[in-house]
Amino acid sequence: MTKEELVELAKKEMERSYSPYSKFKVGAALLTKDGKVYLGTNIENAAFGLCLCAERNAIFGAYCNGVKKEDIKALAVIADTDGPVSPCGSCRQVMAELLNRDTPIYLANLKNDIMVTNVEELLPYSFGGESLK
Ligand code: THU
Repeated sequence: MTKEELVELAKKEMERSYSPYSKFKVGAALLTKDGKVYLGTNIENAAFGLCLCAERNAIFGAYCNGVKKEDIKALAVIADTDGPVSPCGSCRQVMAELLNRDTPIYLANLKNDIMVTNVEELLPYSFGGESLK
């Protein structure tokens, strides 16, 4: 699957966003090496702290179904932003632990911009569980 095709799946997933408060729809699509796709969108709640981002829903959904970091081929994220969507800090922290540091991450918008990046670039010098004694 090309990065454009994965971004397209993430774009379709934006339609499932439950975001009545922010009205900001985000879609994510995680591709595994054996060709499976796990979708995620942002789901909000009137208790704002309970809102969950598209990226984390896609990554957690994959892990809930047995996917491990070495199985992940790529992650696409898209929103209606001027430039490629910029994942929040919480999602970067989750990506740092659950994705390999060099796994391609495609950040897109509705204007066909696609930035190719990875955890190493999005969260350098990140905190990790290996620091815990
Ligand atoms: N959101 C995401 O889904 N991903 C991000 O990386 C940034 C923010 C969602 C959370 C909330 O539902 C809405 O966008 C506005 O912050």
